[in-house]
Amino acid sequence: MLALLQTEELIRANFLPFALPSIGEEEIAEVVDTLRSGWVTTGPKVKRFETQFSAYTGASRAIAVNSCTAALHTTLVALGIGPGDEVIVPTLTFCATANVVIHTGARPVLVDVGADFQISPKAIEAAITPNTKAIMPVHYAGQAVDLDAIYEIAYRHSLAVVEDAAHAVGTTYHGLKIGSDQLSARYPNLRRATAFSFYANKNMTTGEGGMITTADDELASKMRVLSLHGMSKDAWKRYTSAGSWYYEIVAAGYKNNMTDIAAALGIHQLRRLDGFVEARRRYARMYDAAFGDLHAVRTPIAHADRNHVYHLYAIRLDLDRLTINRSEFIEELKQLNIGASVHFIPLHLHPFYQEEFGYQRGDLPQAESIYDSVVSLPLYPGMSEADVHDVIEAVQLITSANRR
Ligand SMILES: Cc1ncc(COP(=O)(O)O)c(C=O)c1O
Repeated sequence: MLALLQTEELIRANFLPFALPSIGEEEIAEVVDTLRSGWVTTGPKVKRFETQFSAYTGASRAIAVNSCTAALHTTLVALGIGPGDEVIVPTLTFCATANVVIHTGARPVLVDVGADFQISPKAIEAAITPNTKAIMPVHYAGQAVDLDAIYEIAYRHSLAVVEDAAHAVGTTYHGLKIGSDQLSARYPNLRRATAFSFYANKNMTTGEGGMITTADDELASKMRVLSLHGMSKDAWKRYTSAGSWYYEIVAAGYKNNMTDIAAALGIHQLRRLDGFVEARRRYARMYDAAFGDLHAVRTPIAHADRNHVYHLYAIRLDLDRLTINRSEFIEELKQLNIGASVHFIPLHLHPFYQEEFGYQRGDLPQAESIYDSVVSLPLYPGMSEADVHDVIEAVQLITSANRR
């Protein structure tokens, strides 16, 4: 490879990061307004953000919290999940999805994914035991899982569905936004909530932040109380003229509330979200076109019945057709001044889950084979078309120079 780096004009002058947020002047002005307002923690801007997020997703209730991790955890606790219970989680996810299950005292049961990287409904069904209480599908990379299949399984077995939509703000399934009440309308009384992330690298960001949507009134009330110490309703108002000093603790809650500083960012990021998604989809189409027939590269599988908001653009390398492995491929991208990443190291390959639950390599083969060959390429609205072309050229160069 190093020989080909002698073609120095192919090396970018500056490093292209794997991900960057797009923060505009409106966000900055809104944060400054918040700072000057005297009200910096949970307050009117959080309320505004929640209302706008409800409207955007088609969810009757939205609760802002300080991360997706907090959103997932709060939901599990509100559902009453605890010791002795099992929750089904795909192994190809970020550790937060499973760790929050452990924090409740329950056990995450890791299952395999399909060739599309999404949790396999068949694997879910096979993992259900009398102790199973919930399924946590992850809308990997910003494409929806097969929700109809999953809601149907959950309904049939009386399980809750806690959707990890960390990647999927703006994603649709059969024309409805992830998080929408309507998605599960055919399954009355299905207990269901959706958790979003506004972490720095997500499709919209509040620095750190998250949101829970649900159609379930009782669940929403519990989650709201749990997300602020377990204080009785609207406790945050107690310092305003509308509020009272009095509050009651009705549960041992958490400190998971979102600040108005974060919501100030969120209000404007949400307004710009569709534009962000459009840019991501346009760049993904450029990658698809360039890599469609490329030696040793497989482009992401996109299902026709759901949109893909491309939080990630994760290619697979056909390792039989290359003389290098995935890690060497990423190293060569880096030498060409291009960042890349891997999503994800399957949870069952990490020492903690192996030691705690006895998982080992070989248990979940599809996720392992994806892990060995997957590379997430840079994809975000702040990239220029020239940046996208640089990535394309780099991938073309590395695959041809290391052809088997
Ligand atoms: C699939 C998935 N779930 C959950 C999270 C946690 O999100 P947060 O950082 O907002 O807690 C992430 C973060 O990257 C993620 O990728």
